[in-house]
Amino acid sequence: MAAVSVGLLVGVGPRSAGAHGDVIPQPVDTAGLNNVGASWLKENPYRLKGGEQYKKAIEVGEHGYAANCARCHGLQVISGGIAPDLRYLDDGAEGDEWFMSRIRGGFSQNGTYKMPPFENVLNQEAMWAIRSYIETREK
Ligand code: HEC
Repeated sequence: MAAVSVGLLVGVGPRSAGAHGDVIPQPVDTAGLNNVGASWLKENPYRLKGGEQYKKAIEVGEHGYAANCARCHGLQVISGGIAPDLRYLDDGAEGDEWFMSRIRGGFSQNGTYKMPPFENVLNQEAMWAIRSYIETREK
């Protein structure tokens, strides 16, 4: 599936996490966020920019997280133990790099995905938005 285009999804709320026990990635509406370009960035562009864009990213990321990550990593980023607690990722650029490698590639073990890859499902804007939300959650 191609990266989600802006605008089409307005009004389609994130489906509740874990409702069916499946792992179907949900589109994230990134309307209102600046396009960050085609090449993969190493550091969260919304944090670097700050201000309104960072605020918007946190808002978008909250929905994106709830729809795609909460079923494993816990509601509001408080892990129930199924998967790591993402509030404890490193801050700044170092944490950004690790975050992006995992969200893009997922994690597989013995031939099965324990975490699905989100590359080609979520666009880069949605990924950084989710990172923005996660990094504002208190430990
Ligand atoms: C089906 C369950 C599942 C879903 C859905 C899922 N993850 Fe994961 N995730 C895991 C598991 C299991 C691991 C641990 C893999 C490992 O051992 O490194 C993990 C690891 C991670 C890590 C590395 C954490 C660390 O401490 O090293 C990041 C970052 C991450 N996930 C982000 C996300 C994000 C963001 C989403 C939503 C877009 C997401 N995951 C969705 C199961 C999931």
